[in-house]
Amino acid sequence: MKSVFNKEGLFEIKAPEGKISSKLPGFYNPRKTFDRDLCIDILSILKPKKCLDLLSATGSRGIRITGIKGIEEVYMNDKNPKAVELIKENINHNKKLIKAKTIVSNEYAQEFLYKNRIMFDYIDIDPFGTPIPFLESAITFLKNRGYLGVTATDSSALVGTYPKACMRKYHSKVYRTPYYKETGIRILINYIIMKGAESEKALTPVFSYSKDDYFRIYFKCETGAGKTDSLLKKTGYLTYCPSCLETYTSENPMNCEKCRTNSAIGRLWLGDLWDKELLSKISLKHKIVERIKEESRIQVPYYYEIPVLIKNKKAKQMKFEEQIRLLREKGFKASRTHFSEQALRTNAKIKDFK
Ligand SMILES: C[S@@+](CC[C@H](N)C(=O)[O-])C[C@H]1O[C@@H](n2cnc3c(N)ncnc32)[C@H](O)[C@@H]1O
Ligand SMILES: [Zn+2]
Repeated sequence: MKSVFNKEGLFEIKAPEGKISSKLPGFYNPRKTFDRDLCIDILSILKPKKCLDLLSATGSRGIRITGIKGIEEVYMNDKNPKAVELIKENINHNKKLIKAKTIVSNEYAQEFLYKNRIMFDYIDIDPFGTPIPFLESAITFLKNRGYLGVTATDSSALVGTYPKACMRKYHSKVYRTPYYKETGIRILINYIIMKGAESEKALTPVFSYSKDDYFRIYFKCETGAGKTDSLLKKTGYLTYCPSCLETYTSENPMNCEKCRTNSAIGRLWLGDLWDKELLSKISLKHKIVERIKEESRIQVPYYYEIPVLIKNKKAKQMKFEEQIRLLREKGFKASRTHFSEQALRTNAKIKDFK
């Protein structure tokens, strides 16, 4: 099979040429370079010493992590022997840039973790589809004050397209809402928090975002029953009323106060999606990061899709800047959101919109 070298930061990653597919001997997606750029930025701030790229494919992520100052060891694992060959070739090709010790293995992820019993400061789970099969073992070998990076590409199960799939896989009830991306990521966060809670590990999301067809979340891990209980207090329900368009947040499922509609979504995470201190240190220049820096100031777990409001209220479309200015003039917080090009995040309620 023909291969090409792809530029990833200062590194060059060899990967099979051709249409991106899980069938290729080393999976590499150039559209996810931003995701890896951001990962490198975040890990340069967090400085975990011992890292694991659990599902490494070509090594594109793990190899880039070896270039971060202060990182001591990077383990790269994949069950596919052809992928492992590529990881080794890529390590060799980039050896001048590699600062950390590299350890490569060819095992099933869960087997690797339980057999070696090494505790890590950072574990990355970047699967095809759902991360569910890898969570329990990864969380078990995550140190107190360690970090976990998780990707999910099965967003259709999380955003309300297939509510039954969401209940089966993520144990939460979901309906389609205009802010479906945010409900999806919050259901996923809740699920991962519950996984951690089983072994008294409090997994607090410190950076979350949605792009293309994937969700990505970084968690900080702190052990202890008390810490876990406090975290669970920030999970609950969101009720979106399709008649009056109002949204409520609550500890237990509730109906719309006005229309009595019964459509509670959850459980899901209702706390912050971003850690302020970490966010302030991220230097990567990208539209998503800029938007997140703005919207993180508004602690409301949903946003308004403007075309939905306009259709329902028979209102005229205004420029976003104008809408944000008007809401701020009235004393509300408002900004755009990285989740949608057509939406506003604000603490104003439906009745406050004119
Ligand atoms: C989406 S790719 C990883 C992409 C990579 N992290 C990157 O940024 O380029 C998923 C990889 O997981 C591997 N994989 C799937 N199931 C696995 C398992 N149970 N144990 C180990 N590796 C597995 C596949 O062989 C594939 O290479
Ligand atoms: Zn209502």
